[in-house]
Amino acid sequence: MNIENYRAAFLNFMSKNLTKNEPKNLYKPIDYIMSLGGKRMRPILVLMSCDLFGGDISEGMEAALSIEMFHNFTLIHDDIMDRAELRRGKITVHKKWDLNTGILSGDALMIQSNQRLEYYEGDIFKPLIALYNKTALEVCEGQQMDIDFETMPKVDLDAYLKMISYKTAVLVGASLKMGAIICKASYQDQERIYNFGLNLGIAFQLQDDYLDTFGAEDFGKKIGGDIIERKKTFFYIKTLELADSSDQELLLKLYANEDEEQKKIAQVKSIILKYGVSDLLLAEIQKFTMKALAEIDALSLDVTKQELLKNFAKSLMTRKT
Ligand code: IPE
Ligand code: IPE
Ligand code: MG
Ligand code: MG
Ligand code: MG
Repeated sequence: MNIENYRAAFLNFMSKNLTKNEPKNLYKPIDYIMSLGGKRMRPILVLMSCDLFGGDISEGMEAALSIEMFHNFTLIHDDIMDRAELRRGKITVHKKWDLNTGILSGDALMIQSNQRLEYYEGDIFKPLIALYNKTALEVCEGQQMDIDFETMPKVDLDAYLKMISYKTAVLVGASLKMGAIICKASYQDQERIYNFGLNLGIAFQLQDDYLDTFGAEDFGKKIGGDIIERKKTFFYIKTLELADSSDQELLLKLYANEDEEQKKIAQVKSIILKYGVSDLLLAEIQKFTMKALAEIDALSLDVTKQELLKNFAKSLMTRKT
C-alpha cells in the first residue's frame, strides 16, 4: 500500500458514512467542512500505522473517520476563534452560515467523532477512548494557550513549543498510536510511533506557521492571518530576540496597532527576513523532522516499512498546503 491508496480507501469509506440528517442547518455545515477536501493526513496515519503493524486497514477505518471528524470540528471552532474567513480555499463555516451554526455544528461533529469509536470492543475500546479523551483535552489546552498568547507581548520559545505540541502535535501522535492499538502493536511500538508523530506534528505546525506568512495563494488560508491575529509564532518570538532595539520597537508597534492589513503584513515580513528568521524556522522544521525520523529506527519494523514512514515525514517538509 502507498499513501494514495490509504487516502482513496479512506475517502471511499467516508463518503458512505456521512449522515445527512435533519435539521439541515445542523448537518449541512458538517457535510460542507468534511467534503471541502484537505490532505486527510491524520486518517492516512491511522491506516498506515495499522497496516505497518500487520493489521487489517478496514479495522482502522472507524478510528480514521473519528480522527478526521475531530480534526474538522477543531477547524470549525478554530476559525471562529481566529476570525478566519478562508479554509481550504473556501469560505469558513461561521462566515457561510453564522456564529451559532459554527458552534453547534462543531459540537455535533465532535459527538459524531466520538460515536465512531463505539465500533470497537472492550479491550481495544478502553485504551482507544482513554487516548482520545486525553488528546482532545490537550488540544483544548493548546488552543487556550494560543489565544492567551495573543494578548501577551512576550512569550518564550519553550512555551510556544508546548502550545503547538498540544494544539496540533498530540493529535498526529494519537492518530498513529490509535492504528497501533487497533492492530495490536507492542506497547513499546505504540509509544515509539506516538513519539514519531509528536515530533512530526511539531514540525508540521512550524511549517503551518511558515506557510501562513510566506506561503502562496494556494495555501487555502489567508496569508498573513497570524500577523493580523497577533499570533506569537516562532517568527515573532525569534525576531524579537534577534532584532536591534529600534526593530524590536517597530515589531511591537506593528503588532499592537490597527494599521491597514496588507501594509502591516509586508512590514512584519520584511523585519522577519532582515534577521534571517525565515531560514531559522526552516532549520527548526528540519530539526523536528529529523527527531521524528530517529524514532523510526527503534520500531520493530522491517526496512521497507520504515522507509514508508520516513518518506512520508520528509514529504511534509516540502508541502505547500
Ligand atoms: C490544519 O491542519 C490545522 C493545523 C493543525 C495546522 P491541516 O493542514 O492538516 O488541514 P487540512 O485538513 O489538510 O485542511
Ligand atoms: C491549528 O492552529 C490548531 C487547531 C485547529 C487545533 P492554527 O490556527 O494555526 O490552524 P490553521 O492555520 O487555522 O489551520
Ligand atoms: Mg487558525
Ligand atoms: Mg488557531
Ligand atoms: Mg495556522
